[in-house]
Amino acid sequence: MMENEKEILTKMQVEFNARFGEQKTRAYFSPGRVNLIGEHTDYNGGHVFPCAISLGTYALVADRPDGKTRIYSMNLADKGIIEFGMTGLVYDKACDWANYPMGVVRAFEEAGYKAGHGFDILVYGTLPNGSGLSSSASLEVLTAVILNDAFGFGLDMVEMVKLSQKAENTFVGVNCGIMDQFAVGMGRKDCAILLDCNTLEYRYSKIALAGASIVITNTNKPHSLASSAYNVRRAQCEHALNELKEVKPELNALGELSNEAFNQLAGAISEPLERQRARHAVLENNRTLEAVKALEEDDVVRFGKLMNESHYSLRDDYDVTGKELDTLAELAWQVEGVIGSRMTGAGFGGCTVSLVKDDAIESFKKKVGQAYQERIGYAPSFYVANIADGTHRVI
Ligand code: GLA
Repeated sequence: MMENEKEILTKMQVEFNARFGEQKTRAYFSPGRVNLIGEHTDYNGGHVFPCAISLGTYALVADRPDGKTRIYSMNLADKGIIEFGMTGLVYDKACDWANYPMGVVRAFEEAGYKAGHGFDILVYGTLPNGSGLSSSASLEVLTAVILNDAFGFGLDMVEMVKLSQKAENTFVGVNCGIMDQFAVGMGRKDCAILLDCNTLEYRYSKIALAGASIVITNTNKPHSLASSAYNVRRAQCEHALNELKEVKPELNALGELSNEAFNQLAGAISEPLERQRARHAVLENNRTLEAVKALEEDDVVRFGKLMNESHYSLRDDYDVTGKELDTLAELAWQVEGVIGSRMTGAGFGGCTVSLVKDDAIESFKKKVGQAYQERIGYAPSFYVANIADGTHRVI
C-alpha cells in the first residue's frame, strides 16, 4: 500500500527538524517514469512513449543564509548529511548520491544561473532503488525545480530538463539520452508523452485503458554494471550511423529511417553486430509510432502485440534483456488477461512493464511471482502504476 502524500510530508518534517533544526520548509515532488514503448531510441534520434508515475522523490527545503548546502536522504541514512558549496563544483566520490544534485547546481552555474545561497534539504524516495524507474533523473529535475523556484530564474521545464540531462552526461558521466529527464519533468496525469528525441517536439496522449492497468514488475536483480554496456550500445549505433552516412550523407539519425529505407541501406554497415543494433533502433522507432497510433485508435490489443515485439527486438537484436527480464516477460505472456509485456528502461535488470486486465492482476502477480521465484531464486515486486504529473512544488 502506497503511503499518502500528507503522511509522507508529516513524517519528513519530523525528520527534517531532527536533522537540521526546526525550520519552515517548502515541499516538492518529482516522479519516476515508466516507458511504455520506444526503448534505446532516444539517443538514436527516434521516438519514445513514457509517462511519469506517482512513485518518485520528495524534498523538504529551507534556505540557508550562506553558500553551503546540506542534504540528507531518509533512504540512505547511512550516508548521513552530505555538504557541498554552490559554486565551482566538481564530481566528488565521497559525496556519493549527492553528486546528482551537485551536477545540476553546476550545470545551472555554467549556463549563467548562479545560486545566491545554499539550502538544507531532506529527501525521501518512494521509488524502489536501482530499479530503472529513473530515480536519478527524478532527483536531478527535483534539484532544477528547487533552484528555479528559489532564485526566480524563470526557466521553463524543457530548459530544466536539458540542464538535468547535461548534469548526468558531463558531471555524473552517464551518457544517457533525454527520455528520463523529459518524462520526469514534463509528465502529465493520465497521459503518456510521445516525444521526438531528434527535434524535442512532443504531444500528450491520454492513456485510458478500459478495464486494464499498467503493471510494473521489478526483477529485483542486484544492481548490474549497466552503464558500460549502455555506452557500448550507443557507440555501436553511432558507428553504424557513420557508415550509413557514407552512402546517404544527408542522414542525421537512425530515427529518420523507415524500415524499407533501412533494409535497402543496411549493407553499408560492415559489422553484422552493429547492423543488428541499428536495426533495433530503426524498427523500434517505427514500432513506437505504430503503437501510439493503435492506442489512439483504441486498439489496445495491437499496442500490446507491439510491446511484445519490442521485447523480442531488445532481446535478440539489441541484447539488453538478460535472464531475469526475459523470464518475467515470458511468464507474463502466458498469463490470461495480459495484453502485452516488455522490459522498460535501459535493461540488463530493472523492470518490465505489462498491460494487464484489471480482473487478471491478482492471478498475474501470483503466477508470475511464483514461477519467477522458482526459476531465479528470489521474488519480484509488483506495482500498479498511476500516471502522474511532472516535477512540481507541493506546498
Ligand atoms: C536509460 C537512459 C535513457 C534511455 C533508456 C533506454 O533509461 O537514461 O536515456 O536511453 O535507458 O531507452
